[in-house]
Amino acid sequence: MKQPSILLLPAVVVAVLGSTPVFAQNANPPPGNPPPPQKRAVRHQGPMTPSAPVGTQGFGLPLAGLTRAELAAFNAGLEEFVSEETPESGLGPVFNNVSCVSCHSAPSPGGSSDIFVTRFGRMVNGQFDPLASLGGSLLQQFAIDPAVREVVPPAANVVAHRESTPLFGMGLLEAIPDATLRQSAARPKPDGVRGRAAEVDDVATGQKRIGRLGWKAQQATLLAFAGDAYLNEMGITSRLFPHENAPNGNADLLARFDHVADPEDQVDPLTGKGDIDLAADFMRLIAPPPALPLSPSARQGEALFQQVGCAVCHTPALVTGPSPVRALNQQPVWLYSDLLLHDMGSLGDGIAQGAAGVAEMRTPPLWGLRASAPYLHDGRAANADQAIAEHDGEARVARDRYLRLTPSQRRQLADFLNSL
Ligand code: HEC
Ligand code: HEC
Repeated sequence: MKQPSILLLPAVVVAVLGSTPVFAQNANPPPGNPPPPQKRAVRHQGPMTPSAPVGTQGFGLPLAGLTRAELAAFNAGLEEFVSEETPESGLGPVFNNVSCVSCHSAPSPGGSSDIFVTRFGRMVNGQFDPLASLGGSLLQQFAIDPAVREVVPPAANVVAHRESTPLFGMGLLEAIPDATLRQSAARPKPDGVRGRAAEVDDVATGQKRIGRLGWKAQQATLLAFAGDAYLNEMGITSRLFPHENAPNGNADLLARFDHVADPEDQVDPLTGKGDIDLAADFMRLIAPPPALPLSPSARQGEALFQQVGCAVCHTPALVTGPSPVRALNQQPVWLYSDLLLHDMGSLGDGIAQGAAGVAEMRTPPLWGLRASAPYLHDGRAANADQAIAEHDGEARVARDRYLRLTPSQRRQLADFLNSL
């Protein structure tokens, strides 16, 4: 069957950052994040932007072997993923950015970026309070009107940054059976490593599922994550998340500035899909990062990765369960993660979320690592060497073995990691 060439995929034109922000920014924005773009993107016109075309270095392509209908769903999803919300379409009243691609852009749409979001809460007597009545735990950094902009409330005594993660290969992650993750959690592991499967309530299915998405494994399905992101990053309500975020919890302010009827994301009666479904399709059908051939040095590094104990958590491969999408059906997934929660000691972000405690973090996949700097949940590490040195808690034994490697062994390990 003839499949459309990649050059026929919709062009992505990213809005140009201007100098005077039209959106209200909070008084003390976290450093490093640019204001959101002010101009609406011109969609599907003109050339693809040189900074982020689909297929850059082989990133962001659809899964191989999709049917014509699946490829059409990928393209429709990509179009939605790059389209910008406006106050008229329901953006805000408080929000963090105007499109999915604005934070998931590098090196192609569906990737990561150095844009982070801010979480806050309050630790009292060892209990974490997300300060939900004050708009927590996620800060919305921008607002459609200065009167509703959020700030980190003075009551917060924990503030953490979270880096945008890449979405390549997400459909494969979603298709890994819960049972696989439960069994892997139950298996005894060396070096004092434990690992917990994150049992979460999945709003997409209404079932208890094993979370595997996000730094805290807080979501199990792409549809639920899409709905969550539309609401919490852009202020777009949907059938799964029908209630707007009140600015710092203030319902009166919300009533005054929320002018678009909820749910803002409407299901198209012709397709049966809303924007959240389209974005989920895109993420489900996007290919994993392209692995590079291993050089002799990277092969040495692969052996070291095993010997040092990295692979105890960064499990090289898992296998998907049955899926109606052939490209996702019983496929090996070379993700280099167990998708479990680990107590990372001092590296934990201090935020309890979903099933994850304050010190627990999900093992992030290492595939595509060469294109997703900066590293760790708050982007504190510029390279893998720094990221490993910050490992603590259950990863301490492996970290200490790593720190005893010779410089040339560390180079080999880096070569391996940069090939995934
Ligand atoms: C303001 C920036 C921002 C915007 C806008 C944004 N994201 Fe994200 N995204 C993030 C950050 C930060 C994370 C990590 C969040 C976490 O785990 O707490 C993330 C994580 C994710 C994940 C989890 C991936 C993984 O590693 O398991 C998915 C899925 C996702 N985003 C989808 C979307 C979709 C779909 C949209 C558009 C509706 C979107 N995001 C818009 C910043 C953003
Ligand atoms: C106990 C489980 C565990 C072990 C063992 C472990 N890691 Fe990790 N790794 C994690 C977790 C969890 C994170 C995310 C921590 C965070 O950002 O808060 C992480 C993050 C990383 C990152 C950053 C990824 C990113 O996208 O930001 C790299 C690189 C990494 N690990 C490599 C290694 C290497 C190499 C080893 C062996 C020396 C190793 N890890 C051992 C659990 C582990």
